[in-house]
Amino acid sequence: MPSQPDQIIIFDTTLRDGEQCPGATLNVDEKLAIARQLARLGVDVIEAGFAYASPGDFEAVQRIAKAVGTEDGPIICSLARAISADIKAAAEALKPAAHARIHTFISTSDIHLEYQLKKTRSEVLAIAEEMVAYAKSFVTDVEFSPMDAARSDPGFLYQVLERAIAVGATTINIPDTVGYLTPSEFGDMIRGIKENVPNVDQAIISVHGHNDLGLAVACFLEAVKNGARQLECTINGIGERAGNAALEELVMALHVRRQYFNPFLGRPVESDTPLTRINTQEIYKTSRLVSNLTGMLVQPNKAIVGANAFAHESGIHQDGMLKNKHTYEIMDAQSIGLTSNQIILGKHSGRNAFRTRLKELGFELGDNELNKAFIRFKDLADKKKEVTDWDLESIANDEVQQV
Ligand code: KIV
Ligand code: ZN
Repeated sequence: MPSQPDQIIIFDTTLRDGEQCPGATLNVDEKLAIARQLARLGVDVIEAGFAYASPGDFEAVQRIAKAVGTEDGPIICSLARAISADIKAAAEALKPAAHARIHTFISTSDIHLEYQLKKTRSEVLAIAEEMVAYAKSFVTDVEFSPMDAARSDPGFLYQVLERAIAVGATTINIPDTVGYLTPSEFGDMIRGIKENVPNVDQAIISVHGHNDLGLAVACFLEAVKNGARQLECTINGIGERAGNAALEELVMALHVRRQYFNPFLGRPVESDTPLTRINTQEIYKTSRLVSNLTGMLVQPNKAIVGANAFAHESGIHQDGMLKNKHTYEIMDAQSIGLTSNQIILGKHSGRNAFRTRLKELGFELGDNELNKAFIRFKDLADKKKEVTDWDLESIANDEVQQV
């Protein structure tokens, strides 16, 4: 991977940081179903879990590495604290992947050092160096994160990053762990790293951020303008507390406003080459699947994937839309995979329409599961005039869980 790509790397952490949000726990089969869909969506990296955290997480990383981490598939990544047992477990779970990455981290802010790690700066520096080198003994692709970088002393941060790169980190990920920075501060932090870490060009700069102030996506876009080339995000923005930066918002901002962002990536303003490798038409499907399997509902006014994101209620807006839809829409619903010809399913619907609608909702069931789901659908359709997407999702969801 070139050190300064002119496309943005999309690192999806739905299955790791996303799953860390209260109530969103997924079983291994559900994780596998999401990982398969993330591969169809075209993400570059899937952070499949935290292999050392539990036997279930280990198994999920391993099975995803095997089933999705194929030669032409995405990079499969496992998180690991900067502790040798964590790194060893990550390396072991990742073995079946054609492209494996270990993502190791340690806090660098004084508040974390004092209260959480109970270590000095020089101890943290030594651990970071030793553990990145240890990770490198297993895989060539190593990512290092100085946790709570946004609240760390910049001089110390530069020093840790320089050492991590010197011993083999190929991606340095800059987290705003508590979602504290404003967008311009985030941009300045990335510029500071570019200007003050002497070997920074030997690694990709990545960003990771939480949405405590609702600013994560805005912060990432400023980071891109200042040299970040990898974005760590989750589907529907799920994650710890207020969540992580939302993949669909980042991707569509870079897609809709590509001519604005082109010059920051050294491309001609008019270039129409996509800024990411994401197949945007898979966005809606992926959003539905993640919402269904995690049980995390998407708010109706959520940008891009909310139920109202392409709905027009006021008479003035509807009138404008009928004359020219760009009067009130900056992107087409079809570009995220929403179909305009919604099939209404009822008791007269056949298996094909049923399968097609499930596919649109992100479910691809095997023949056996499809048969069982279809029988339940017919049963329900006898009792209800119209079977809603909610009904279908709940039927399909049960079948996925029983796989
Ligand atoms: O928020 C955070 O700092 C993290 C790290 C592990 C990257 O999730
Ligand atoms: Zn995080």
